[in-house]
Amino acid sequence: MSNSRYAAIIGWGMAVPQQVVTNEDLARRVNTTDEWIRSRTGISERRVAGPGVFTSTLATAAGREAMERAGVAPSDIDMVIVATCTPDRPFPATACAVQANLGITRAPAFDIAAACSGFVYGMSVATGMIRSGMSRCLLLVAADIFTHLIDWSDRNTCVLFGDGAGAVVLQATEERLGLISTQIGAAGEGETMMAVDAGGTRMPATADLLAQGKQYVYMNGREIFKHAVREMCDSATRVVKEAGLSLRDISLVIPHQANVRIIEAVAKRLELPADRVVINLDRYGNTSSASVPIALYEAVQQGRVKDGDYLLITAFGGGLTWGSSVIRWGRP
Ligand code: ACO
Repeated sequence: MSNSRYAAIIGWGMAVPQQVVTNEDLARRVNTTDEWIRSRTGISERRVAGPGVFTSTLATAAGREAMERAGVAPSDIDMVIVATCTPDRPFPATACAVQANLGITRAPAFDIAAACSGFVYGMSVATGMIRSGMSRCLLLVAADIFTHLIDWSDRNTCVLFGDGAGAVVLQATEERLGLISTQIGAAGEGETMMAVDAGGTRMPATADLLAQGKQYVYMNGREIFKHAVREMCDSATRVVKEAGLSLRDISLVIPHQANVRIIEAVAKRLELPADRVVINLDRYGNTSSASVPIALYEAVQQGRVKDGDYLLITAFGGGLTWGSSVIRWGRP
């Protein structure tokens, strides 16, 4: 196989469950208010997957739309990557279910677990696969259903998350498109700052542990907040410089949608005007790995992205993990 220098985004798709849960709905379940949630997080409502909707269900729908938009057939896709930390099952990979659902026969399929940084990690890995010649046309999906790992009686976490999936099709090209520069990082010493304890090999799920609620997400929100602002700013600054650009050259910043105060703090530090920062977490909450591709999708559909534009994506999540990339928009 021949190598290509770049991997252009030629298709994009998204999927969210139908059910909307508003802040008022949550205020009827736990001791919280619409005012607290909106002022502390920026979230007004989120989408929640009902019974029978799995991570692969949303990932398949987003992937199908991205492939249709790209105008590619299942036989054109030679690799499937799903970024998720809420897989259908502990194994096999959710990417295998997505591959089968979409009729993509034989192409390698695997998952990436980088929590909320999953799409940024995924773009780096996918572009690397294309640059190495391992792939020429790749489907990358970021999908998470965090609401199934939430204790709906815990007001610290149940107000934050929503479910969704975003997908892109990447194609090999010699044109300077797609990922121009990227930086991904992790600080594993912070692994228990946000985690789900039960269900893995360290703590297999038992009736006793389930009764203790060990299958649910917990987090130290205040600490994560501080790390998120620092790492997103540092990595964003680095990738813009590596791309040979300045922040003034970036048309649109698409940050992970965890908390509007994190996004505002990053924008303030990087001196970015509000109209160049995409925010849609008011309608979706934190959809984890899916938040960046869903925000990208909406920005594109709203006509906010033009060919030749430089976009900056930046994310932070459990792990701890983070990453930023500069993307040059356009089809070869
Ligand atoms: N309603 C009312 N009060 C609440 C609620 C709620 N839903 N949740 C918490 N509180 C209370 C707390 O109990 C606390 O009360 P206390 O002072 O009496 O103990 C008080 O509000 C303040 O709590 P803080 O944790 O200090 O609130 P903060 O302003 O930090 O906001 C939040 C909390 C929203 C979680 C914020 O810290 C945050 O967004 N952190 C980052 C989250 C994140 O980015 N996660 C990583 C990505 S997710 C991933 O990787 C999948």
